[in-house]
Amino acid sequence: MSRIALNLRKFGHRVTLCNTRNTLCNTRNTLCNTRNTLYNTRLASSSTKEEGHSYGKETHFGFETVSEEEKAKKVHGVFENVASKYDVMNDLMSGGIHRVWKDCFMSRLRPTPNTKLLDVAGGTGDIVFRFIRHAGQAEGSAGAGVVSDHTEEPSPYPYDITVCDISESMLEVGQSRADKLGHQGIRWVCGDAQNLPFDDDQFDCYTIAFGIRNVVDVETALDEAYRVLKPGGRFMCLEFSQVKNPAVRWAYDQYSFNIIPPLGQVIAGDWKSYQYLVESIRTFPDQETFKEMIEEAGFRNVSYENLTFGVTAIHSGFKI
Ligand SMILES: C[S@@+](CC[C@H](N)C(=O)[O-])C[C@H]1O[C@@H](n2cnc3c(N)ncnc32)[C@H](O)[C@@H]1O
Repeated sequence: MSRIALNLRKFGHRVTLCNTRNTLCNTRNTLCNTRNTLYNTRLASSSTKEEGHSYGKETHFGFETVSEEEKAKKVHGVFENVASKYDVMNDLMSGGIHRVWKDCFMSRLRPTPNTKLLDVAGGTGDIVFRFIRHAGQAEGSAGAGVVSDHTEEPSPYPYDITVCDISESMLEVGQSRADKLGHQGIRWVCGDAQNLPFDDDQFDCYTIAFGIRNVVDVETALDEAYRVLKPGGRFMCLEFSQVKNPAVRWAYDQYSFNIIPPLGQVIAGDWKSYQYLVESIRTFPDQETFKEMIEEAGFRNVSYENLTFGVTAIHSGFKI
């Protein structure tokens, strides 16, 4: 009798736990919907803006032709949806190679602790955490959050780093990673690459990794990058690019279209966002075209380097 009562009590606890979990899940969904509504309202008012980008033309969302407003909303929705699974999906999809690409990107930049960085479309912070590591190594220091031996007071944050991203959810994941790593001095700013909320001539370096192909108007984003960089400042972009070798391209296409969206479904419960990812890579300009676009924005000494047969490329240019 008492065992039955015990089991009933356990069952009751399990039901309560389950209900709490469902409530949490619903709250998260409501938050996400509220954010999307807020974003859509912001977007509607931005179509009349003088500065930045005014929406109106047609563009691509993956292989779909959509209006620019629609693309902006859809891209925002994609990253609001995938934020919590973004890092694990990156590792799974690329077999961890995205880490090598990002390390390579940082080693080309060779930052020092004095480099004032703006990382646009910075998402969950992958680039800025690497920046801190590389800048720390350049100085021979252990990096940020160091506790002084004598006073036991944390030393002032030694880096000037700003992350700007359009998705609040991606920024939240980045911020909580930063807290865990002890990097409390990073500025996390919600903003659009096409209309950066910063004054002219502010930064030594502008980085954007796997972000620019999601932006509706790439030319406007490049103009903005030029505007916020100090004279002499450097623009650096890491982005998926075009594979020229036909055999490698065939294998890469098979993998991309047949593995990535199903993986997105299984891990993140989201096929469409990952279908968009592989399609958006194919519609982004090739290495030479993108180089010309960077030059048209005013950058000089523009160059690029292919990584992994051109699956990704690093573009670099200077404001001189
Ligand atoms: C593929 S993630 C890259 C995140 C990070 N840079 C990395 O390498 O892991 C693309 C990011 O671009 C952001 N994004 C998309 N459109 C944007 C825009 N117009 N302005 C700023 N960020 C944007 C998304 O919110 C998302 O965080």
